[in-house]
Amino acid sequence: MSDKKKILVTGGSGYIGSHTCVALMEAGYDVVVIDNLSNSEPWVMDRVGEICGRKPEFCEMDLQDREGVRKFFSEHKGLDGVIHFAASKAVGDSVANPLKYYRNNLGSLVNLLEGVLENGIQSMVFSSSCTVYGQPDELPVTEDAPIKRAESPYGNTKQISEEILADTQEACPNLQVIALRYFNPIGAHSSARIGELPRGVPDNLIPYVTQTAAGLRDKLRVFGSDYATRDGSCIRDYIHVMDLAEAHVVAMDRLLNHWNSEPMEVFNLGTGTGVSVLEVIASFEKVSGRKLAYEITTRRPGDIEQVWADTRRANEVLGWTAKRSLDDALASAWRWECALRGIEGN
Ligand code: NAD
Ligand code: UFG
Repeated sequence: MSDKKKILVTGGSGYIGSHTCVALMEAGYDVVVIDNLSNSEPWVMDRVGEICGRKPEFCEMDLQDREGVRKFFSEHKGLDGVIHFAASKAVGDSVANPLKYYRNNLGSLVNLLEGVLENGIQSMVFSSSCTVYGQPDELPVTEDAPIKRAESPYGNTKQISEEILADTQEACPNLQVIALRYFNPIGAHSSARIGELPRGVPDNLIPYVTQTAAGLRDKLRVFGSDYATRDGSCIRDYIHVMDLAEAHVVAMDRLLNHWNSEPMEVFNLGTGTGVSVLEVIASFEKVSGRKLAYEITTRRPGDIEQVWADTRRANEVLGWTAKRSLDDALASAWRWECALRGIEGN
């Protein structure tokens, strides 16, 4: 039997989950993945195995299936921790289909927490989002900024999930939870074997940019140039997905090695630097060596003007800092798009 610590990663074949599986295995953890493949492909686990030289154990199952989750835990004793990525994440779809989001994101969390508590698992990391801040009054935004009314049912599931986790930790002193509030994850593993795999037309900026450069889309639409920002386009904090993945390893290490009786801990995960949409385009053109076709159009309803992270808490408490640059992240996203489409990259 392996003496490595074993971590359950839900949603582990998805975008951030798959990169985190790589980071966990490279840090010496064993990994078991639960995923229902509702937004990912079965070959992703093979690719993770290829990168790491060993494959995570994979269980195809839906976390909404309470009995299935019970059975999973009865068959997987000795788990040391859980990282919970599995959720539906399309903001626009959540406005059209709110109950799907409440059922999946909240129902799955409750089923998982029941399994965690019944099996005495003490360490859990949760995927939250900077959407909980809305448009912050002060920038960079700290973890203590007020939580604004959610702009979408998806955003609301993240707020409610944090509350469910905080309440559960308070009621169960043996459980410790870290909630990680991601800013905008982008990029891909340096091998270009795993990356972001949007289904249909991408909602997010970077896959739209790379698909446009790859010829799948005519042109990018830049949503608004009349914001009160340095060039009129919106500002976000884009973080390389491998930096994000490594932060999960550090958070899990902390939970497993540094017991504290504090309430649930929350950390912003960003670079600490805001970048505009037009700056992203300029950086992409530089690293890809291609001109990007784009036009400036009207604002996208629901977009906030600008947000970037105050990362001091993650820097000081977790000892984690984002190391990779925007250029690195965009170059890796482009290599991934080229590998997917069989295009000769730069
Ligand atoms: P993703 O869709 O690529 O990955 C989620 C995975 O969970 C998918 O593989 C999907 O098949 C699986 N899944 C969904 N519902 C499930 C269920 N009921 N049972 C089992 N598996 C299920 O998304 P991602 O970008 O990797 O996001 C991971 C997490 O991070 C999500 O919780 C998301 O809300 C959060 N997050 C993402 C972003 C972002 O911009 N990508 C930003 C902030 C927070
Ligand atoms: N944008 C465009 N054109 C596009 C797509 C996006 O100009 O075709 C702009 C948006 O207006 C925004 C920026 O690019 O200014 C980033 O947009 P994304 O859709 O990539 O990301 P968001 O900041 O809107 O939201 C994302 C996720 C959320 C998550 C949030 C914070 O979609 O789920 O990051 O992590 F909560």
